[in-house]
Amino acid sequence: MDGTVTEMVSVDGLVRNNPNTWELLHDVPGETRCAVQLFGAKPETFSEALGVLAAHDRVPDAIDVNMGCPVRKVVGAGAGAALMRDPVRAGRVVESVVEAMERRRVRRPVWVKIRSGWDDDSINAPALARVLQDAWASGITVHARTRRAHYSGRADWRVIADVVDAVKIPVLGNGDVRSGEDAVAMLSETGCLGVMVGRAALGAPWIFDPMIAILDGRTPRGNPRPEERIRVVLCHLEMEVALRGSERAARFMRKHIHWYTHGLPGSARLRERVNHCNDAETLHRVLAGYRAKVGNLS
Ligand SMILES: Cc1cc2nc3c(=O)[nH]c(=O)nc-3n(C[C@H](O)[C@H](O)[C@H](O)COP(=O)(O)O)c2cc1C
Repeated sequence: MDGTVTEMVSVDGLVRNNPNTWELLHDVPGETRCAVQLFGAKPETFSEALGVLAAHDRVPDAIDVNMGCPVRKVVGAGAGAALMRDPVRAGRVVESVVEAMERRRVRRPVWVKIRSGWDDDSINAPALARVLQDAWASGITVHARTRRAHYSGRADWRVIADVVDAVKIPVLGNGDVRSGEDAVAMLSETGCLGVMVGRAALGAPWIFDPMIAILDGRTPRGNPRPEERIRVVLCHLEMEVALRGSERAARFMRKHIHWYTHGLPGSARLRERVNHCNDAETLHRVLAGYRAKVGNLS
């Protein structure tokens, strides 16, 4: 079974009715099983935010509570990975989400995303996982790096195995899964129920197809040709225009196009041009021209 998670959605933003927060909750056509990832510091704000979602009839398929974000501003406010340093409050956050749903008689899985710990001297993922299990979390995703490591260095999958041993609820492993072979290795080395993919999917949303093929024991299809990649970019652009309008979509797509075209012929020149496109129509023309050129090469 597969699923997706939204970007981090601020519980304070929901409670304050911030339009930028609501934008993160947009529906994606055809997408099912999408968890909304909430972040915040106070248990009571999570509870209030659940009330706001319910009042708008927007209780998602599942909730994921962020306890892994390393960003200074988030951590400084007591949210994200800061919750790993305060297991009592972390447990109360999960309890308050579960109770807020029970009060409204809605039943949805409540997952939590954690890291290994704050730093190498305070690896507490297994102990914290037990606290979260006691608070009625449905499952836990472990990013096998510390807060101090942010995204650098190799993920230490042994922590995932320790969390699997510590709890009875499902555990997903995360960190350095870039291929079906990596996924198979993580599942067998750690005993986790499933894997979560992060950076490998940036600019390569097709990565899940070969991964699932390998997990199912099928032969994966090859990577898409350059012109097929650009077709996906154009489709992505169209979806962003529907969501954000032409000008914001053109700016938003810059970083994605950087990821999508990494390693393709002429990509440095393309990116330079893309960075000067201020509306979707111009960007579409530039991309279509590039697609014709790379198509002629293959
Ligand atoms: C640009 C970027 C944005 C991210 N945003 C989130 C987020 O909103 N919520 C979250 O739980 N993790 C977020 N992550 C972390 C990833 O989900 C993942 O835990 C991390 O990248 C490790 O997995 P990987 O080695 O497969 O990339 C983000 C990572 C990157 C690089």
